[in-house]
Formats: sequence, C-alpha cells, structure tokens
Amino acid sequence: MNSMIYLDNQATTRLDPLVLEAMLPFLKDDYANASSASHDAGLRAAEAVEKARCQTARLIGAQPSEVFFTSGATESNNTVLKGLWECRRAERSHIITQATEHSSVLAAARFLENHGVRLTVLPVDGEGRVNPGDVHSAITDETFLISIMLANNEVGTIQPASEIGRIAKQAGVFFHADASQAAGKIPLNVQELQADLLSWTAHKMYGPKGIGALYVRREKPHVRLQPLLHGGEQERGLRSGTLNVPGIVGFGKASEIAEAVLEDEQRRVRSLREKLFKGLCERLDFTRLNGHSTHRLPGNLNLSFAGIEAEAVLDEIRGEIALSASSACSSGSGGASHVLQAMNVPSGYLHQALRFGIGRFTTAEEIDAVLERLTEVIARQRKSSPFYPPDAAL
Ligand SMILES: Cc1ncc(COP(=O)(O)O)c(C=O)c1O
Repeated sequence: MNSMIYLDNQATTRLDPLVLEAMLPFLKDDYANASSASHDAGLRAAEAVEKARCQTARLIGAQPSEVFFTSGATESNNTVLKGLWECRRAERSHIITQATEHSSVLAAARFLENHGVRLTVLPVDGEGRVNPGDVHSAITDETFLISIMLANNEVGTIQPASEIGRIAKQAGVFFHADASQAAGKIPLNVQELQADLLSWTAHKMYGPKGIGALYVRREKPHVRLQPLLHGGEQERGLRSGTLNVPGIVGFGKASEIAEAVLEDEQRRVRSLREKLFKGLCERLDFTRLNGHSTHRLPGNLNLSFAGIEAEAVLDEIRGEIALSASSACSSGSGGASHVLQAMNVPSGYLHQALRFGIGRFTTAEEIDAVLERLTEVIARQRKSSPFYPPDAAL
C-alpha cells in the first residue's frame, strides 16, 4: 500500500499507529478472557474493556452503561431492527426508514417486511436529504421505529437528524441513527440528537475492523431489545460471545484520539476536499457534484464525470490510487448505486460517479498527484467516448 494513494476512507480507514500500539499488549501478553474473573489477567482484560466503554461512550455523549460492543455496524443495525421488533411486535408493527440507508438497515428492514412488518422507505431530495415533514407524516399508531442514518457512505450527505429525533420523541417512537460514517468525523451527541439507539463501528474511524458498538438509551425511555445472539450472556445478555478485547481496546483508543483531534481534523480534511473539488472542476467540464454542498461529511467528495465509465477509470489507476465507484456499493448487482438512483441523478451521471474519501493520513501532495493523474485519465477517456460532450449523446 506504501506507494498507493489511499482515497477510500469511506470504505475503511487505516489503523492509526497509536491505536495499534494500544492494542498490541492485548494481542501479545494480556490475552485473557475478559469474563475470567478468577484470575488477575482476566480482571485486567475486563478493566481494559470498561475503560474502552468509557472512551467510546464519551465520543457520543452517552453513559458507559449504555454502550454495548458488537462485531460492527452491520450487527448493531440488525440488532436494532430485529431486536426491537421482537420486543414490540405484539403491539406495533411499522418501521420508517429512508431510501439511501446502508444495506445493513435496508436489507434487515426488508427481512422484517417479509415477516409481517409494514415498512415505509421515504424518498430523499436531489441532494440525498430526507424531509423531516415526510417522517412526521409517515408516523402512525403502529410505528415503533424510525431508522435514519446520520451521514451517507456514498455521497456524504448529512441528514437533519436532530429534527427527526425531535419528531420521534414527540410521537413516542424510538429513533435509531446509523452513525457509522459520522462518528469521529463530525460532532455527535445522542442527547442533542434525541437518539434512542445508535450504531457505529471502529474501522471507519482509524480503529480495527470487526468491532462496533450499539448505544441503547437506558432512561427516558428505557429501550429494551431482544438479542440476536444467545449464549454466554456477555454484554449484559444483549450480545453473547467472548469479547474481542484487543478490538475493544483499539476502538476505545480510536475514540479518544477522534475526540481530541476532531475540530482540527475536520478543518484540514475539508480543505483538502475543497482543493480536490475545485481542481477537478477547473480542469474538467461536465463534472457533477453528487450529494449536498454543505450538509456533507468533511472528507467525502462524490463526483460524476460525463462521458466516462467510472469502472474504466478505476481500471486505469489500479495500483496507483485507491478510489471507489458509487455503483460498486450496490451489493454486487452490477446495477447503478441505489443512493444515486434515489437522488434521481440523471442517467448519464449514474455510472460515471467516483467517490473520493479523504482522511487523517491524506496529504496535500497526494491531492496534487490525484488531480494531475485523474485529469489526464478522464480527459483521454473522454476523447474516445461517444457520450462526450454529453449533448452529443442525446
Ligand atoms: C453507513 C454504514 N452503515 C453500516 C456499515 C457497516 O459497518 P460494518 O462494516 O462495521 O459492519 C457501513 C460500512 O460499510 C456504513 O458505511
């Protein structure tokens, strides 16, 4: 990876060296099971887990007792949808979500729909935002959950989550937010959001893969969930299975670092993003910004370049620049991205979208190099394209 420029930070992030350092003792020497209370090594592991629980809770403004470790946001999202339904199905059977959610929410919701849940998938506007008024109108006496992501993984659009939280609270409906892309990148506080449940994951914030968390509000209201996994009753019965101590310690450290650097990092990453955006727009015409211009993750840029195929560009820069095409996220279907489709992106810009994920370790020199190389590749591919300039294709 050394010589490759990594701009795929919405897919995953590099492990911060300080996180690795914090994890190493728990991979090498302190390997005891955190449930082994019969010896000091086990107690040390349990102590490390509780420290990490405090660190992760702090990042989202929660109490440590409200944080449950999982294997990642996919598991957290599934636990929310299925676990809440198990508890509420006798009284209520309606879920509200929106069209650009991650597949771990949409597919879990569709699964429940096949088991009798009534599902409302709200549309988004051209910039990927859901209208809080639509959320309000969709609520019925049957609704038990509103699940809306904080920020989108493809186009970086930030949803009006606190407005939705307020609407949910007034209606007495639980509000779940998938914060996988937002945690550690923008300020996040479950009280301000009025979120009852929140999912997030370490590997999107410079922590290790395979470890995530679920926030479950314990007061006003006390949210109850059925576990997905049964067994040893770890995590107070909500998530059985031997705790991933090194992963949890890494998640804790990643949270501590994120909290400390958040403001500066947001500014730095946003300015690199603006440099890339401006540079590409100056050099290449018929470039379309997908997503919101201001309600957007600082490190996300999603651009469509008319007349090219995103996959052909990726093929040419393979090994040099790690980027992704929006369509790559559509569950291997080979179709266009469900996010861009939901935003009504015109057809000549659907398979032409590249997602740039700028992060903590991206440098200004890398952005210069990407600007130069991409301009050259796109301009050349356009020369042989019947779809460029776009009007010629109509
Ligand atoms: C918005 C969003 N939700 C959920 C997930 C799933 O996270 P994990 O890889 O931890 O299961 C991702 C990651 O791809 C994501 O971007």
